[in-house]
Amino acid sequence: MEETSLLRLISLISLLSRSSAGLTVSPSRSQFFRGESVTLICEDEIRSDGWTVRRNTTRGTRTECGDKWGEADGSTCNITLFPYDTGLYWCESMSGSSSSSSSIQLSVSGGSVILQSPVLPVMEGDDVTLSCRAKNPTHNLPAAFFKNGVFIGNESSGHMTLLHVSSSDDGLYKCNVKGHGESPSSRISVKGQRKTFNFSSAHFSTSCLPPGPAGLPPAGLLSVLHLHFPHGVFIWTQGQR
Ligand SMILES: *[C@@H]1O[C@H](CO)[C@@H](O)[C@H](O)[C@H]1NC(C)=O
Repeated sequence: MEETSLLRLISLISLLSRSSAGLTVSPSRSQFFRGESVTLICEDEIRSDGWTVRRNTTRGTRTECGDKWGEADGSTCNITLFPYDTGLYWCESMSGSSSSSSSIQLSVSGGSVILQSPVLPVMEGDDVTLSCRAKNPTHNLPAAFFKNGVFIGNESSGHMTLLHVSSSDDGLYKCNVKGHGESPSSRISVKGQRKTFNFSSAHFSTSCLPPGPAGLPPAGLLSVLHLHFPHGVFIWTQGQR
């Protein structure tokens, strides 16, 4: 009985992970100055290869990394960015099946101000820091911040922190540094809370793991399983009794 539920759980996990890849962006932000480099990595818990980065820009749709833009190395794509690289990027399985990750927006400024904001969706309840950066000088200057075109505040440090974000913080953000100019706009999307399932160690103790001394459940039982759905990421946690 307990063995059956564990098997079901494992099939559920493989089902979830097989159909999705996560896209990692390094450095992790959505805006770049002309000439900066970015690395996009397609990560999959099961296979590390078999994914390719594709994009939609004004120069073409669904074009593949390594073909006219970017340098592909397995499931990794390196790009030296220019304003025409602004667009949507995602991972797609090479087999051409319907598997793909959610897409991200990268914006390359032709000007001298960028907004550093999270490129991946943020979780409800997280604190999110927006940084307004000028190209020169590189230290942060006082900046004005805007959400959906509406002024939301001046920050002398150039940083604005949104505390405990909720869906109402979802929107298009940009900033402005006096005498330097305005950044492109980037969307901050807020996802629902992490879904965490807790399984009591009792579910796993007797039939799935070898018994400990004197028939007691062994120490270090697998007791907690977190499933992070947005990018198909899952983490096993070893629980101590
Ligand atoms: C890329 O562009 C194609 C053609 O317009 C469209 O069908 C597709 O949905 C776009 N992909 C993304 C991730 O927006």
